[in-house]
Amino acid sequence: MSSIDLFQNPLGRWFKGGAARPTVRVKELKERDRRRMVKHFLALESRDRLLRFGAIVPDEQVAKYVNGIDFARDMVFGVYNRVFKLVAVGHLAFAPRDASPRKSAATDKERVAEFGVSVAHSMRGMGVGSKLFERAAIHCRNNDIDTLYMHCLSSNATMMHIAKKAGMAIHRDYGEADAYLKLPPPNPGSVLQEAMEEQVAMLDYAYKANKRAAVKWLDRLPGRKSE
Ligand SMILES: CC(C)(COP(=O)(O)OP(=O)(O)OC[C@H]1O[C@@H](n2cnc3c(N)ncnc32)[C@H](O)[C@@H]1OP(=O)(O)O)[C@@H](O)C(=O)NCCC(=O)NCCS
Repeated sequence: MSSIDLFQNPLGRWFKGGAARPTVRVKELKERDRRRMVKHFLALESRDRLLRFGAIVPDEQVAKYVNGIDFARDMVFGVYNRVFKLVAVGHLAFAPRDASPRKSAATDKERVAEFGVSVAHSMRGMGVGSKLFERAAIHCRNNDIDTLYMHCLSSNATMMHIAKKAGMAIHRDYGEADAYLKLPPPNPGSVLQEAMEEQVAMLDYAYKANKRAAVKWLDRLPGRKSE
């Protein structure tokens, strides 16, 4: 029997989940995940790369972008599938409010956050992108950021759908769209929710990493080839 769980999104709204979609564990990514991040981005089809980066970006530029991510300043979230393949990446980049006049008009807080996300083709439509977005939003909320910003092409129907569903205010201009989500202040529930999600994701990550290492080790045994 499949269960129907109730989840609370970062805005405090309750919604149904779990019935048709797999459980998505969103984990903070660090230095050690860089190589897999490059692999994830390079595997995106050219149209998806365009949607993600806003331009046709060559492979070297993608690697440069990943190698330039400052994990001490920004947050990067990822989703690993059951065979320990990185199938989705969300980058939450922070900048001082006055770095951009448009963004500074949207908030009184010191920093603004901009979110970019991509999900491997095979994992689309299962709630992975939405879950990464929710995790980014709750992280902002818990870190004194009240405005989550996203820039994308206005032809990006899926992202526009996710933005609208989250209640983002969207400004369209010359085929591009800026979307802003106003976040409520943190509360004990939002802090606990983020901490719990990360703990569970860490266990899930360790389990999958160990399983993958065991399978590789078994594969090296003479006369044995696992599926
Ligand atoms: C945008 C992207 C991250 C979404 O990932 P995802 O895991 O498929 O997203 P989800 O499954 O959480 O949600 C997709 C939602 O969009 C809806 N959707 C899918 N295609 C759609 C379309 N053409 N028009 C409108 N809505 C659409 C789905 O029905 C779903 O809605 P629901 O949750 O209400 O059922 C993914 O498509 C992607 O990586 N695209 C390329 C990169 C990109 O565009 N990045 C965003 C720019 S920063």
